Amino acid sequence: MSKIHVIHENPVWLPPLAQAFDRIGLPWAEMDLSRGSFDLSQPPPEGVFYNRMSASSHTRGHRYAAELTAGVLAWLTRHGRRVVNGPAALDLEISKVRQYAALESAGLVIPRTVMVQDDSAALLAAARRHFAPGPLILKPNRGGKGLGVRLFASVEALEAHLEQAPAEEAPVDGIWLLQDYIRADRPVITRAEFVGGRFVYAVEVDTTAGFELCPAEACAVGDAFCPVGAQPAPPPAPRFRVLPQGIEPGLRSRLEGFLLRAGIDVAGIEFIRDAAGQPLVYDVNTNTNYNPEAEAAAGLAGTDRSGPGALAAFLAAELARGQRQAA
Ligand SMILES: Nc1ncnc2c1ncn2[C@@H]1O[C@H](COP(=O)(O)OP(=O)(O)O)[C@@H](O)[C@H]1O
Ligand SMILES: [Mg+2]
Repeated sequence: MSKIHVIHENPVWLPPLAQAFDRIGLPWAEMDLSRGSFDLSQPPPEGVFYNRMSASSHTRGHRYAAELTAGVLAWLTRHGRRVVNGPAALDLEISKVRQYAALESAGLVIPRTVMVQDDSAALLAAARRHFAPGPLILKPNRGGKGLGVRLFASVEALEAHLEQAPAEEAPVDGIWLLQDYIRADRPVITRAEFVGGRFVYAVEVDTTAGFELCPAEACAVGDAFCPVGAQPAPPPAPRFRVLPQGIEPGLRSRLEGFLLRAGIDVAGIEFIRDAAGQPLVYDVNTNTNYNPEAEAAAGLAGTDRSGPGALAAFLAAELARGQRQAA
């Protein structure tokens, strides 16, 4: 029987989706690509494939899961399988630089960013040249969960950090990004969720406790990173809040236009408003997770206006469409 194959490498993110799929009786199976072997001379299984490979897979010991997934997606599409968040989506998931190019092409504004592939000395020289006196953000090009994202109050603070921790946490693809620190009026970011290329809702996330902002319940434990110079993280508070007013129509249609052009069906897109209220978009998560408490507080839990609910309804429609075409 035809079903949804969920491509992933982190089982702890699956239960909320499993619940929503099971609630509507959607047939599905996991396809764990943390590792695997595939006979490329054979056709893949029937069904619709939903790719949730994550940019942060290497941080869970799955260094080559994204590369394996790129190969599997090529095999699936060569055989005409429908892949939700297909090869183009994976390509952006694992590179912020490529995200930024696609975002700007779609008329969105990104923070000023310099890409560096070299040693600490080159990183520091680029920081001095483009961001002195600071503040500035340092982040890996292939990101995820905020790991390795750091705020420095000054170029000197970056220098001190690099002296102390030279190469210990080089980005997995070798590329660092230096970025303007966006000063917002309030310590919040906004994450807008899209399913089937359409806006579902936006959450505001409090960033007071650090930059690791994964919305999944499974991510809510562990050591939150503190911006350099900040106090240790305060006790966890409700950090995610669904915005009843959503986002402005112009921004929504530019983001939907970006997703269409980029071949992305499902994403959580993050932006910060600067002091003038302009949204600067800095992160696209094609492997998005949803915050259950925020959805419950907004009365969305268990409905098709929740993230997992919207996803289940969308995938069910894609499966039905595939079956009609095959008939
Ligand atoms: N340019 C920036 N200005 C201010 N805060 C930022 C900036 N870039 C990242 N941050 C903070 O760090 C968090 C993680 O950065 P992000 O680029 O989303 O990396 P990741 O892909 O690992 O989630 C953001 O959600 C935000 O809170
Ligand atoms: Mg992010």
